[in-house]
Amino acid sequence: MRLVLVGPPGAGKGTQAQFLAAHFSIPHISTGDIFRANLKAGTDLGNQAKSYMDRGELVPDSVTNEMVRDRLTHDDVANGFLLDGFPRNVAQAEVLRAILADKKTPLHAVLEFSLANEEIIARLSARRTCRDCGAPSVGVDKCPTCGGEVYQREDDKAEVIARRLEVYAEQTAPIISFYRNEGLLISVSAAGNVEDITASAISALSRVAQ
Ligand code: AP5
Repeated sequence: MRLVLVGPPGAGKGTQAQFLAAHFSIPHISTGDIFRANLKAGTDLGNQAKSYMDRGELVPDSVTNEMVRDRLTHDDVANGFLLDGFPRNVAQAEVLRAILADKKTPLHAVLEFSLANEEIIARLSARRTCRDCGAPSVGVDKCPTCGGEVYQREDDKAEVIARRLEVYAEQTAPIISFYRNEGLLISVSAAGNVEDITASAISALSRVAQ
């Protein structure tokens, strides 16, 4: 299964990606997580990405595309992958299509999560993130997954959330029609409880996986 998740910030892509990646036995590749891991490690890539991320802007395509191109050469993608947070504009979608065409391994599906802005703002404002494992949580002092320290992401502050929503509408939403035209788009509501959303997504994806 070669799969892309798309949806507004805070729709629950990362939360659902964990379950979907486990269900289909494929690696979860989150460009946001790769940038944050590089930031934590103090690499050049992390330092380059930081100012864009903190403002809610996209990291330049030249940086992001090469990072994904490299990640898709790793052995663990031989049986598929789940891309979360990439592509994020039509230019990135075209680069991904070209990378996969070269390898003769096209996408099977693009799963779109949709959610109303009020719910997005509520989820992101309440979210805390683990410094160690990156897992999201709400209303706890320690990470429920690994016990690590939790913090509020710079881009989960109110003014940056607003900018991320604008960037999504202006730059990322156009990839929905791009993938609909390619016949790859599957849309699932991201409202409701986590387990029900996972079940809807797996049911929709099972039809393409056959
Ligand atoms: P990235 O990390 O990709 O952020 P994002 O797309 O804005 O997504 P989030 O991680 O904020 O949310 P999510 O949809 O994964 O939701 P989550 O599961 O955590 O990108 C960050 C930045 O990196 C970008 O702004 C950009 O600067 C840069 N970047 C990354 N990729 C790039 C690219 N391709 N090109 C250029 N720049 C790029 O859930 C949110 C909260 O809701 C959590 O607290 C969770 O517990 C809770 N929750 C989840 N599901 C439910 C539910 N069903 N009910 C109630 N609460 C729920």
